[in-house]
Amino acid sequence: MFPCDFAWGAGTAAYQIEGGWQADGKGPSIWDTFCHEKGRVFKEQNGDVACNSYELWEKDLECIQQLGLTHYRLSLSWARLLPNGTTQHVNQKGVQYYNKVIDDLLACNVSPMVTLYHFDLPQALQDQGGWKSPGIATVFDSYAKFCFQTFGDRVKLWITINEPYVCAKLGHEDGIHAPGLKEPGIAAYLVGHNMLRAHAMAWHSYNSFYRPKQRGAVSLAINSDWLEPLRPGCNEDIAATERDLAFTLGWFAWPVFVTGDYPEIMRSAIDSQSKQLGYSGGSRLPRFSQDEPAILGTADFFALNHYTSRKVKPGGGCGQMLCMKSDRDAEEVLDPSWSICGVSWLAVVPHGLRKLLKYIKDTFNNPAVYITENGFSQVGPLQIEDVQRCEFYKDTISEVAKAIEEDGVNVRGYFAWSLLDNFEWADGFSVRFGLFHVDFSDPKLSRTKYWSGQEYAKIIMKYKRATDVQ
Ligand code: BGC
Repeated sequence: MFPCDFAWGAGTAAYQIEGGWQADGKGPSIWDTFCHEKGRVFKEQNGDVACNSYELWEKDLECIQQLGLTHYRLSLSWARLLPNGTTQHVNQKGVQYYNKVIDDLLACNVSPMVTLYHFDLPQALQDQGGWKSPGIATVFDSYAKFCFQTFGDRVKLWITINEPYVCAKLGHEDGIHAPGLKEPGIAAYLVGHNMLRAHAMAWHSYNSFYRPKQRGAVSLAINSDWLEPLRPGCNEDIAATERDLAFTLGWFAWPVFVTGDYPEIMRSAIDSQSKQLGYSGGSRLPRFSQDEPAILGTADFFALNHYTSRKVKPGGGCGQMLCMKSDRDAEEVLDPSWSICGVSWLAVVPHGLRKLLKYIKDTFNNPAVYITENGFSQVGPLQIEDVQRCEFYKDTISEVAKAIEEDGVNVRGYFAWSLLDNFEWADGFSVRFGLFHVDFSDPKLSRTKYWSGQEYAKIIMKYKRATDVQ
């Protein structure tokens, strides 16, 4: 049974839905720059207009109401609020926009969960080194304080940074996300490190200056697949799975929830690989300074983004070059029994989420967990009658129920990804995650509920009724 105050939500992110990329004084972000470069994104698409939620917010609100959501997760565009990234210049139109969104939500009895950073760094800050530069942490902290000060009287659930793993790896190792850097084996660790420092500073600011009055909760959204050994009982596969977990979930969760530092297996794997390849620049995984705010304990809940599962065995490196893949020495494979839905990486494994939730409970001392993203994609011809996605939501939510009832995991909320079809990063508009379809060929960008939207609304209604009866 879901607790009566369970958060039933759906999520979006500013760059993926807002459009209005130059409207009313907004500054450019790294995703504006990245998309406007040739060859970066599917069919050279971009988020210049996207779902135009900057102008059509009321339409989104109607969708939210149609689903009966209790919560809505949105992100703020840093460059819309602070065009050059710093508080020296505040764009009041941006403040007005988010004030309206937040006020409208609350007027409809929907609680906002607000992410400060969902992949879209102001370009002005990238020009000064972006997340690779240590100074970014204090700039982020000022931005966070500005947001707590401006919106925190009404926002009680905050996410500082969405998926530091994806920002670090896809943006700085693989170069397939903005800012498009390919500096394998070096930059991602630095970026991840500065993101953790930035997150921790913002959490401490909230804790000291805003929490006493505002009484909200702050975390960072960590993405993780469920990983298990390819051959159960095979020691090498078990060790590879542990390494893989350490390099993904552990990279960010261990410092925040367990020790204040990176998992030991991660550091030793990186250092031994450096030695083997004759790299002499010191440990590629930075160390936290004792003079800065502590990292340990800087999450008031566990925010989990989860989509899929993998089986793991050793391997998957990149020869004599430095790279994260070689450091982690873990190759992920699919189980042939899993169906792939939409994008090639999304194997549908609802029970993987239950296992991961239990793992989080056992490993991180039974934290309150919000599933801040989970969803199912569609590619190719449009199918409003998306029966497979309906099944996916039913199956997955029933696994969450089992995690609560049978495994005693303290799950506090579930946010479907996504409210709307939107700009799916390097895949442009070719991948659709919405509970509502957006017709990008229609100048009005009309929103149409998928069957899965209907299904999710039914699920929410059913569980809400059940808890009302209690
Ligand atoms: C991101 C979303 C994205 C989703 C599906 C997550 O990595 O936070 O922005 O749309 O996955 O790929």
